[in-house]
Amino acid sequence: MTYQASKSRYDLMNYKRCGSSGIQLPVLSLGLWHNFGEVDPFSNARQMLLDAFDHGITHFDLANNYGPPPGAAESTFGKVLSSDLKNYRDELIISTKAGYLMWPGPYGDHGSRKYLLASLDQSLRRMKLDYVDIFYSHRFDPETPLEETMSALDQAVRSGKALYAGISNYSPEQTIKALSILQNLGTPCLIHQAKFSLLRPEPLHGLNQVLLDNGVGCIAFSPLVQGILTDRYLKGIPSDSRAAKAHGFLKKEEISDEVLQKVGRLNLLANNWGISLAELALNWVKSHPFITSVLIGASSPSQLETNLRIAQMPDFTPNELAAIHSAL
Ligand SMILES: NC(=O)c1ccc[n+]([C@@H]2O[C@H](COP(=O)([O-])OP(=O)(O)OC[C@H]3O[C@@H](n4cnc5c(N)ncnc54)[C@H](OP(=O)(O)O)[C@@H]3O)[C@@H](O)[C@H]2O)c1
Repeated sequence: MTYQASKSRYDLMNYKRCGSSGIQLPVLSLGLWHNFGEVDPFSNARQMLLDAFDHGITHFDLANNYGPPPGAAESTFGKVLSSDLKNYRDELIISTKAGYLMWPGPYGDHGSRKYLLASLDQSLRRMKLDYVDIFYSHRFDPETPLEETMSALDQAVRSGKALYAGISNYSPEQTIKALSILQNLGTPCLIHQAKFSLLRPEPLHGLNQVLLDNGVGCIAFSPLVQGILTDRYLKGIPSDSRAAKAHGFLKKEEISDEVLQKVGRLNLLANNWGISLAELALNWVKSHPFITSVLIGASSPSQLETNLRIAQMPDFTPNELAAIHSAL
């Protein structure tokens, strides 16, 4: 049956301006790092994408290497775009990235112009797209001049294959340099994609202020620490969880007793407030003014449904934030 997007989709989500740009992003975005590969059921992947769009999630985040195998998430997304979302292309913000190992030899990894631009062409072919909305340098490459990596992003935008440039996993110092190069090239950086969660609030090391000062948006990835900040691991490691899967990036060692004690205390607080731990963890990230969007993953439509409850949840008050910090 032909998919028709829900008419109420824009009533269910809040949108926030991305830095000082013209773009607004949904406060919750969906990433395709896990659960959209060849090993995952296509019907589940399709359902999550359509449910997300029906609830006002307009931003889908990909990278060349998401799978498994690498590239498969972009192919899955391309399939759903062609079959269901084609007529909604202008309502979508689709991002992809290059920076990690993608193909053998010296030109399939890191930050050279050769790698980034060839990878973007491959991503467009897999997704059957003419352009992506955001093209990211996935990580800083210490062996390639930053000017070269940034000029590849500029070229991607000038060629019309991307509308905006972004960077991910850059330190505050690397970010300052990257922003200045991009500014001078005439392609200002739209957004920084950074790891940020209740269990890892400190590694930003001032990145938040750099982004605020420069009018650059921030999208926070792995806000649930790949599922640790939910009720998923409170009673052991379920066999269908990311930590149990051979191809999952969550290592069992990360779910230590010390971490589980913190998670237990936060879960108690969430229960007292009548919300799930996932909602508490996501709304904590959303409550920071420098955050434009919270970039989640999900393995089922029901997880997505839970997480969508923060779409219109008010940000936590200073008192609520203090209660969360003392539970930590
Ligand atoms: N730029 C980068 O370097 C980078 C790195 C990592 C991620 N990312 C981006 O960020 C996106 C999100 O990362 P992530 O998948 O690690 O995010 P996450 O939201 O921290 O973790 C998602 C996982 O948490 C579990 N989960 C989600 N909602 C739940 C709920 N309501 N109840 C119980 N469990 C729940 C699921 O685990 P199960 O699968 O076990 O059910 C799900 O797969 C990625 O898809 C990618 O787009 C970017």
